[in-house]
Amino acid sequence: MYFIVMEVASQNFALKGDIAYSKTQTRLETFENSYLVCEKGKSAGVFPRLPEAFAGFPLIDYTGRLILPGLTDLHMHAPQFSFRSLGMDLELLSWLEKHAFPEEAKYRDAEYARLAYGLLTEHLKRSPNTRFCIFATIHVPATVILMDLLEESGLVSMVGKVNMDRNSPDILREADAETSAAATREWLTALADRNYKNTYPILTPRFIPSCSDDLMAALARIQKHCAAAHSPRALPLQSHLSENQREIAWVRELCPEAGCYGDAYARHDLFGAEIPTIMAHCVWSGEEELRLMRSRGVYIAHCPQSNLNISSGIAPVRRFLDMGIPTGLGSDVAGGVHTSIFRAMTDAIGVSKLRQCLVAKDEAPITFEEAFWMGTLGGGSFFGKAGLPGNAGATGSFDPGYEFDALVIDDADLAAPFSLSVEERLRRTVYLSDDRHIVAKYVRGNLI
Ligand code: GUN
Ligand code: FE
Repeated sequence: MYFIVMEVASQNFALKGDIAYSKTQTRLETFENSYLVCEKGKSAGVFPRLPEAFAGFPLIDYTGRLILPGLTDLHMHAPQFSFRSLGMDLELLSWLEKHAFPEEAKYRDAEYARLAYGLLTEHLKRSPNTRFCIFATIHVPATVILMDLLEESGLVSMVGKVNMDRNSPDILREADAETSAAATREWLTALADRNYKNTYPILTPRFIPSCSDDLMAALARIQKHCAAAHSPRALPLQSHLSENQREIAWVRELCPEAGCYGDAYARHDLFGAEIPTIMAHCVWSGEEELRLMRSRGVYIAHCPQSNLNISSGIAPVRRFLDMGIPTGLGSDVAGGVHTSIFRAMTDAIGVSKLRQCLVAKDEAPITFEEAFWMGTLGGGSFFGKAGLPGNAGATGSFDPGYEFDALVIDDADLAAPFSLSVEERLRRTVYLSDDRHIVAKYVRGNLI
């Protein structure tokens, strides 16, 4: 009991400093020398002077430092962290075969998983990201080890045990649909008595080429069962979509009846609507697929660095945003090598400029404001009504009611010989800072 009281009390405080966040998808708001209040783990807003109602809250003085929302990595592969930066010489399908699958097979060994996931978790604690949607591997014990470590870290994550029952090497393939579904049920049962506060399961069929129709049907049954037992949003889903042209041609052969790649998920009821869904990449999604995503509220995880490294192409992010498709940013480690979503923001801006030059003259590049929004509220909203039971949970904004994920940045060594506004300092931080500039990181009102 004493513990609980302490916890709630420590989630009531105010921070003083120079504050910036996205008010909308296209507009930043900045506040010099102001107060950001956290009440019971949620933002109570930003104020020029501390309101009387919060006068009794402990005040942490970060005068002269920047205070920003925490960042969301909407798509990464935990087992691939170990080989990031190695093997960047191939396109997606050969890269999976030569690099990703052999490394992921090692997580059959729980001790290897503990070592590798320990390194990952320590790294993520120091990063500017506070929320994560993560692919683990097909292995139940290793996935639970990863979830235990993430829970201990205080970070907030959705983690998926991966499903794969076809077109994968023997060392990384479940015997058949029922074996894969049974392992998924076993994993969900193992989580039931763990009472995590910050770690959630997410269904993770790897992509259509590695999941048979029978497996997709079995996963849809598991999702519906969970929805009936808990809430329609109890078990969200993540996968890959339209990343690479050879992959898309393969899906067309595997599912000739599907109108588009996205329809291959939709036919199994595993594509948004009632199920909060993230699809990574969508580099080659056409009009039909994008409309399907919009109508079903499917989130896109745009992963610009991965799209460069494994030669996937340049995603039409201007189209995503103009159509109103919910979009966040992903590292896609190890397709991407950098975990920081600051880096994903600058890559998103850069590749969108190349797209306009080389591919689509009528698609305006992504602005800084839009990139910052995607990396904060764009992805952070998946943890809200789209991602979890009830309407609570979203982060990425300091408007009242959002969960309190915040970074305090000491940007003194990013100074210029002329004076910089708070917005210019934010831009500098996004382009130039690294983990050493982070002096404090709060997740759900807790100091990490
Ligand atoms: N598609 C299926 N699996 C993967 C993966 O591990 N990484 C990427 N980038 N795409 C995939
Ligand atoms: Fe991926």
